[in-house]
Amino acid sequence: MKKYFASILLAAAAMCGAAATPVYLDDSKSIEERVEDALHRMTLREKINLIHAQSKFSAPGVPRLGIPELWCTDGPMGVRPEVLWDEWEQAGWTNDSCTAFPSLTALAATWNPDMAQLYGKSIGEEARYRNKSVLLGPGINVYRTPLNGRNFEYMGEDPYLISQMVVPYVKGVQSNGVSVCVKHFALNNNELNRHTSNPIVDDRTLYEIYLPGFKAAAQEGGAWSFMGGYNLFRGEHASYNPILMNDILKGEWGWDGAVISDWGAVHDTPTAVKGGLDMEFGSWTNGLTNGRSNAYDSYFFADPYLKGIQDGTFTEEELNDKVRRVLRLTFRTVMDRNRPFGSMNSDEHVAACREIGQEGIVLLQNKGDLLPINPAKVKKVAVIGENAIKMMTVGGGSSSLKARYEVTPLDGLKSRLGDEVEIVYARGYVGDTTGEYNGVITGQDLTDPRSPEELLAEAVKVAGDADMVLFFGGLNKSNNQDAEDFDRVTMELPYNQNAIIEALAKANSNLAVINISGTGVAMPWKDKVPAIMQAWYLGNETGNSIASVLAGDVNPSGKLPYTYYASLDQVGAHKMGEYPGHRRLDDHGNEVWDMPYNEGIYVGYRFIDKNKLKPTFPFGHGLSYTKFKYGNATVDRTEGTSDDVFTITVPVTNVGKVKGKEVVQLYVNDVKSSVDRPVKELKGFSKVELAPGETEQVSITVKGSDLGYFDADKHQWVVEPGVFEALVGSSSADIHTKAKFTIK
Ligand code: GLC
Repeated sequence: MKKYFASILLAAAAMCGAAATPVYLDDSKSIEERVEDALHRMTLREKINLIHAQSKFSAPGVPRLGIPELWCTDGPMGVRPEVLWDEWEQAGWTNDSCTAFPSLTALAATWNPDMAQLYGKSIGEEARYRNKSVLLGPGINVYRTPLNGRNFEYMGEDPYLISQMVVPYVKGVQSNGVSVCVKHFALNNNELNRHTSNPIVDDRTLYEIYLPGFKAAAQEGGAWSFMGGYNLFRGEHASYNPILMNDILKGEWGWDGAVISDWGAVHDTPTAVKGGLDMEFGSWTNGLTNGRSNAYDSYFFADPYLKGIQDGTFTEEELNDKVRRVLRLTFRTVMDRNRPFGSMNSDEHVAACREIGQEGIVLLQNKGDLLPINPAKVKKVAVIGENAIKMMTVGGGSSSLKARYEVTPLDGLKSRLGDEVEIVYARGYVGDTTGEYNGVITGQDLTDPRSPEELLAEAVKVAGDADMVLFFGGLNKSNNQDAEDFDRVTMELPYNQNAIIEALAKANSNLAVINISGTGVAMPWKDKVPAIMQAWYLGNETGNSIASVLAGDVNPSGKLPYTYYASLDQVGAHKMGEYPGHRRLDDHGNEVWDMPYNEGIYVGYRFIDKNKLKPTFPFGHGLSYTKFKYGNATVDRTEGTSDDVFTITVPVTNVGKVKGKEVVQLYVNDVKSSVDRPVKELKGFSKVELAPGETEQVSITVKGSDLGYFDADKHQWVVEPGVFEALVGSSSADIHTKAKFTIK
């Protein structure tokens, strides 16, 4: 009977000519089916239009088929305010303020993948709410030199830590139907000469240090798009480098996403077509402030490419691969009618901003337990320094934001402690008084006519009259001070801060320095200052996050995601490698800065260990207001094969008076190997919260197959049989216990 009715229904449908839903619009079909159907309906002109920009941050989609525009937005720490169609300047919207989340270095410093997932979900909700399909982040370039202007946007020096933190961020963002755009693939490790740097890197270094974060984002994170870097690699631009994009990303890693150029990173049609690029944005701009206007039809992927197809220079099949990848990106995002609706500036996002910020703060030193501030003992607190009052969400390049609000450290301290202690502020120095970037203004007037001498004298006097001094120093995202397109020119703090800190230390021994920066700075005064805290750029909730930790409401648990070098002499890139490299003209007369990474795999603590150096503070370092005691490490098996998983277990006890979190770190050393290998490499970590007196058996697993080195000649990972040593500690330099195991 059912069949009878079914046939009547079908016949009726056929008679009234109800048009079946085309496959590409049918949500019940797979994305691949929908992509193929859309592709075969598109004209050649529509295919060409799809793969390049129509405005500063959008591409046209396929209007005739009802496939919407694809909108991108910066950046990795918050959703950028709207700019005009073809301008870098502001569109002047009044409803595009955002939640400015902590810098990604601060996120990495939490060593907590749950925070990364929370971060990705939250920022993805804001991008979704603003109807963006592609969030131009996260940035995960390795911290090769402390001078790199964009270290604050990235996740530190270690490929394993980057891998662990980028994957949940990617999943969190994409759970909103918004794509990440993992950047800048690859080897964009400095801003100086960023369009002409040509890193010269051997394959082992490439695979062991510079690729793992990107590989994790692509394979485990399932990133839907990547952004190519401006720099060159082995003579070809990264954004369409056949080795990086075709051989590795789409070949070895089998990645099905879309490669988007950096803004202004495309320089010609043939190499871009052949080199694995899928979408062209920002051509003839410097990616930040200027460029030719409305040049879209002459884009390298526009008329020149169309002409090349028509005259047979390029095949349509080659174009179709690009179109498929862009359609796939579109169907995963703006064409997904089931994706959530997002949210903007919600209480949840404020809470996330604060929680991540609090958990990323690193207590570097705390002699005499000067911190947390105890109002019973401390009645008057002197707060010194421009960074206590300067808004930092504006500035720094494409990651600059129009935050809905920003709580400065001084404001945060006043609201948290103002009823219990007297807080007196002194400027100390005048650094950067601009309060504007890219047409966004902070509204602060930081001008101060007084001379440096007057400012210092006032600070010293205020400090001398107080029970405790908090000096907020560091950098401020102005040019050469943690900013895109500008590297630092020195590791030293700017604006004479070293002298000011020394003077304050003389005036009052109860001095804490809270360093706000995204990259490491020299701390020659380290032994004269009892307490030092690394507080990063923490977004809207900066002052509240910092005050919570200073007041002891939150017990700091952050760990350094990069080595705090004492000087450039301790940095592989400067001691063995070249930075910024040496200039030459290529055979087209273009400037190229060849930059041999002679330090090879010896980046960060790998270089420190190899040369037995003592940095200011080591990778993975971070104190707590409590103390943790480690017992003896054991391994669940003393021998196995490289296919086995080894579980290292260590009892960790909170032997202090307050609850706290500890990041238990597992490093592994290949005791005897046929090639030079680092003394140890991070291969696992676990963040645990313990109440006073509580002991937890902390177990960390490591796969034997993850303990190899990359053999460039065989082009594969090699795990050599032999003895391996697990080193467990609270930082790379603070190993508490070891255990050996053998891989047969
Ligand atoms: C910039 C940056 C990139 C950013 C893009 C769009 O130059 O290099 O990170 O997403 O252009 O602003």
